[in-house]
This record gives sequence, C-alpha cells and structure tokens, in this order.
Amino acid sequence: MKKIAVFASGSGSNFQAIVDAVNAGTLDAEIRLLVCDQPSAIVLQRTQEAKIDSFCISPKDFTDKTAFEKEIVQQLKSRDVEFIVLAGYMRLIGSTILQEYAESIVNIHPSLLPAFPGKDAIGQAMDAGVQISGLTIHYVDAGMDTGPIIVQKEIKIHENDTRDDVQKRIQQAEHICYPKVLQELFTKETTNSVPRFVGKVF
Ligand code: GAR
Repeated sequence: MKKIAVFASGSGSNFQAIVDAVNAGTLDAEIRLLVCDQPSAIVLQRTQEAKIDSFCISPKDFTDKTAFEKEIVQQLKSRDVEFIVLAGYMRLIGSTILQEYAESIVNIHPSLLPAFPGKDAIGQAMDAGVQISGLTIHYVDAGMDTGPIIVQKEIKIHENDTRDDVQKRIQQAEHICYPKVLQELFTKETTNSVPRFVGKVF
C-alpha cells in the first residue's frame, strides 16, 4: 500500500476523488497527510470529514523557501510518506522537496501541456480560442508544469461554452483520470524502477 501525501491549495475536488477511490478499494494507497498552503481552503473541511491528517503551512512564516520546504519534508518523513500527489497545489515545488522525493511527485494540470502552463490554464486556453484543451498528468521537476508527461486527455471546447462549462468538464475528467493513473503507477512500480510512462488510460 503506497503511503502518499496530497498537496492542495483550494477546493480539493481532486483530493476528494482520491479519497473516494481509496475508500472504494480502487486505489491501493494510504493518504497519510494533506498539505495545504491556504488556511481558508475548502480542502481542509474535506480532510475533517474524511478523517485524514492535515498540515497547513504558510511560506510567510519562514525566512526562505528552503526553510519552508524543510518543515514540509519533516512532516512527510515523520509519517513515512513515500509519494506526493499535487492536486491543485498552486506553488512551485522547490529543490528541498524535489531532492527528497525525486521521481515520486506527480501533478495534474488543466491543459494539454506544454500549452498553457501556470495559473488559469482554462482562461488562457479560452482566450487563445482553441477548440481542444484537456488535462495532463505529469511527473514534477523544477520547472512550471514541465516534467515528463504520463497521460493526457483531450476535452473539446464548444463555441458557446463559458469558462465554468469548460472547467466543469475538465474537472469531471480529472476526477476519473487521476485515481486511475495513480493506481497504474503504484501497481506497476517496483522497488528499483519508477515508470516514466504508463500510457493512455482512455
Ligand atoms: C484542478 O483543475 C487542477 O488541474 C488545477 O487546479 C484545480 C484544482 O481543483 N491545477 C493547476 O492548475 C496546477 N497548475 P480542486 O482543488 O478542486 O482539485
């Protein structure tokens, strides 16, 4: 059973999908901790309902990013966390966490990377007038949404769609896709080899 931590900054609907998959027995993982950088985030309410430990931390309380991340790593290590799942965590992962969890951090992003990295990917896609966007699940490296891609799924943008319509459609797909891909990663992994590509799940 993979011991994981989920990092989130907002509503936590992807966190909820992961909790639901674990409870349904379709994802062989134990969620040891939810790490959050926003004290008012709705995801913290979800942790209470799910009875999962949470750790809320603000970079403002630390002298620099290294000290901030060292504290996070200490929290993760004290719970034997083996793998980090970013689910709407709106902060760049720095070298302190990357060194400790090399090749064991994944992220989900609401666009077909490398298109539209960073904040408000859906707004960026709509402003650009693209007819197809989607989601990407990828390993995390030091860049902004730049790590090796694991899976992508296309989602059509229709002419009269509002931003909310597109967000809803992408997030519905995220909630199905993320637990499935995590399960693929956790069950195919062996002690000495981390798969860099698990192929399409659709
Ligand atoms: C998700 O759509 C995720 O793809 C996106 O934030 C949303 C979080 O929603 N992540 C990024 O934009 C990362 N660059 P949630 O809090 O309801 O899971």
